[in-house]
Order: sequence, then structure tokens, then C-alpha cells
Amino acid sequence: MLTFRELPPTAGLPLSWRDFLPAGGRPDLESGLARFLNVRSVQIECSGTAALVVALEYLKQRSKRRTVIVPAYTCPLVALAVARAGLRLKLCDLLRESQEMDANLLDRLCDSDTLAIIPTHLGGMPVNMEPLVSIARDHGAFLVEDAAQSLGATWRGMPVGTIGDIGVYSLTRGKGLTINYGGVLVAKSDEARQGLLETSKRLSASRPFLEAKLLVELLGYWLLYNPTGLSLVYGLPLRSYLRSGNLTGAAGDDLPLEVPVHKVGAARRHIGAAALARLPAVLEANRERGRSRAAALKGLPGVKVLSEPPDSSGSWPFLTVLLESSPARDQALSRLWTSGLGVTRLFVHDLTGYRYLSAIVPPSAVPNAQDFAARMLTISNSAWVTDRDFARIQSVLASSSAPAAKARTSMLL
Ligand SMILES: Cc1ncc(COP(=O)(O)O)c(C=O)c1O
Repeated sequence: MLTFRELPPTAGLPLSWRDFLPAGGRPDLESGLARFLNVRSVQIECSGTAALVVALEYLKQRSKRRTVIVPAYTCPLVALAVARAGLRLKLCDLLRESQEMDANLLDRLCDSDTLAIIPTHLGGMPVNMEPLVSIARDHGAFLVEDAAQSLGATWRGMPVGTIGDIGVYSLTRGKGLTINYGGVLVAKSDEARQGLLETSKRLSASRPFLEAKLLVELLGYWLLYNPTGLSLVYGLPLRSYLRSGNLTGAAGDDLPLEVPVHKVGAARRHIGAAALARLPAVLEANRERGRSRAAALKGLPGVKVLSEPPDSSGSWPFLTVLLESSPARDQALSRLWTSGLGVTRLFVHDLTGYRYLSAIVPPSAVPNAQDFAARMLTISNSAWVTDRDFARIQSVLASSSAPAAKARTSMLL
């Protein structure tokens, strides 16, 4: 069915025409983000993936170690960044029904070749950093936090991304703050900050024509990042992918193998700096809405919503939901993925499931990551998802998980 209302899958920050006006004394993007993250300085890169590449290239110079451990369920771009830096990948399975790496397993996987561990704070939800910090320290590995999806989330009062040695955020489309494509690097030590700057200078080309294209696209983003515009640029391709059964295309997982690393122009930084001024208030509203909607879903039998671990505060771009079984999840998605209500899957597979990554990702037994991928869906936490929209989603989830729940009850009787 053709619909002209398509809600975005994440609570991205819409741009305003005012973001395109001259600065008028406002801090630049680097200073604004440094203040927001409570760090000495930040470094802007052309994408979160490029930021990971710069981080890994820098760490490679500091050590002879060559293996990087990542969660088995994370963005395929993380695997591509590791490969682009010429490093070996090792997967760590997750805890069951969680997006956190299994710390006991991680400890066993680390060895004298482990250069870095890259935990992911997926979907705005901080992971428990305590075991990771001590495992990295015990094994002499660097801790690089992938907070691409979690700008604004905190763990024990500290912004995620600023707890390990290096942190990475994404400013790519749909993220809490966007400059079309962009990334941010932060580092704990002066030595690392200096090293990351030098590495970036060595790797980043100036691409004026590409920069002009990215700026025009950002203008398009301002015009089209709304439910009507998204029905054309997001909804139409989504439906076409789903009609042809291309799930990885529908989830945006078919990614180019090449990872460009180039400079980011002043105009896009300027627009990002202007939008950043709105971010704290928007995050606060997202947090409140996310928490109350997560609480509303918790009452549904057969539905588990991921929530904030103790002492942490999420940024809530979307709600991550696990249904009782893969068929229940598929049944719910058959009604919701094309509903225009902002329901989708995050990454379709764990990292072992993508054919285009087979030369990079080693065969690994990762049953919990596979189970997570098979049972999960996400619900947008965009302000455009009204209470009425959410009630429709709730009712589909209730009916999709009901047969399994009923069967469970009758077994108990
Ligand atoms: C967990 C995670 N890491 C890294 C990235 C890469 O960021 P970017 O798309 O800005 O290259 C993404 C992108 O969505 C991501 O979700």
C-alpha cells in the first residue's frame, strides 16, 4: 500500500533552516562536542567507521599486536574498519538476551596478540564497562568504545565513549546529531589525542567535490527528514527491498566494502554545531518517552525490552525488543515493517551471517548473538511516533507473541 507517512527508524535530530545561518558567536562543533562530552577535545572524522580506522591505525603504531575483539552482534562497518586497518578480527559472543559481550568468554579470548577490544553501546544503551576495563587492563589491550549509536548516553555519570582509552561516535544520517556522514573521536590521554590527530592527518585526503555533494545532501536531509519526505526516500526503497525478500537491503546492512577517510568541510561542521545546541533538550525528551514506552511494553507476555543497566542513562534512539521466538518476531515484522511506524530490524545477522564479510570474519560459534539477531526488532523512539502509533505497535506485538504465551500457559496447567 502506498503511504505518504513513514516514520524514521531512529530518533534522529531534524535540522532547522536556522542551522544554515551564520554562526553569530556560537562555539564550533569541536568545542561544543567537547563541552557536551565533558572532555578536553574531540576530533571530527568523515564517518564513525573512518574514526574507528584512525583509532586502529594509531594503536597499530603503538604495539606489535594485531588482533581486535568485537561483539559478534554489531554493525558490519566495525568489521570493515578492522579489515581496512589491516588487523585480524575475533568475535566474542554476547550474554544471552543481551547486547553485552560475555565477559568470561572475552577474558578467555584475549591473548598476547590482542591489540584492542571494541565493545559496542548499541541502540543508545550503555554496556557495563566494569568487567571490560579490568579485562583490557589485565591483558594489556586497548579499550576502544564504539558509541556510534549512543551519543549522550552515560554510565556511572560518565558519557559512554569517554571511559575507555578511545571513544568513537557517529554523526551519520539518522543519528542523534548528524552532518550527513561524520564521526567523532575522543581519547583519554594527551599522547593518544596527539597520535590520533597525526594519524588522521596522514590518512585523510581533501575531497572538495565529494564535500560539495555531501553538503547538498545535507540540505536534502533538512528538507526530507520528516514523515512525508521519508515516505519517498526511505519508505519506497524499503518496500521494494522487502517485496524482493532482500532483508539486508531493507535493514541498510548492504554496505560498501571500501571505507573512505577524508576531511570534513567547514560548512557541514557549522551546521552540526548549530544543531548540537538543541541536542540536550531533545535527548531529555527522548529519554522520558523511551522509558515510559519501554515500561508499557514490559507488561506484554513474550516481549522483552532492553533497558538501562544500573547507574546508567540511555540516549534512546529506539527501543530494542526481543520476542519469544524467531517466528513470533517474523510474524510481528510481517505486519509492522511496512506499516510506516518506524519498526525495523537493527542488523539482520550476527557478523558471521553476512556473505560479503566472509573473508574478514572468522568462523565462530556465537549462539547467543545468533539468537539475538533472530528474535529482535526495534521500535523508533522518534517524537513523530505518536501515542496512537505506539498503541498500534503494541497491539501487533501482543497478538504476535500471544500464541507462544498461550502455549506456555497450557503446558503449565
Ligand atoms: C555500532 C556502530 N558502529 C559503527 C558505525 C559506523 O558509523 P558510520 O555509519 O558513521 O560510519 C555504526 C553506524 O551505524 C554503528 O551502528
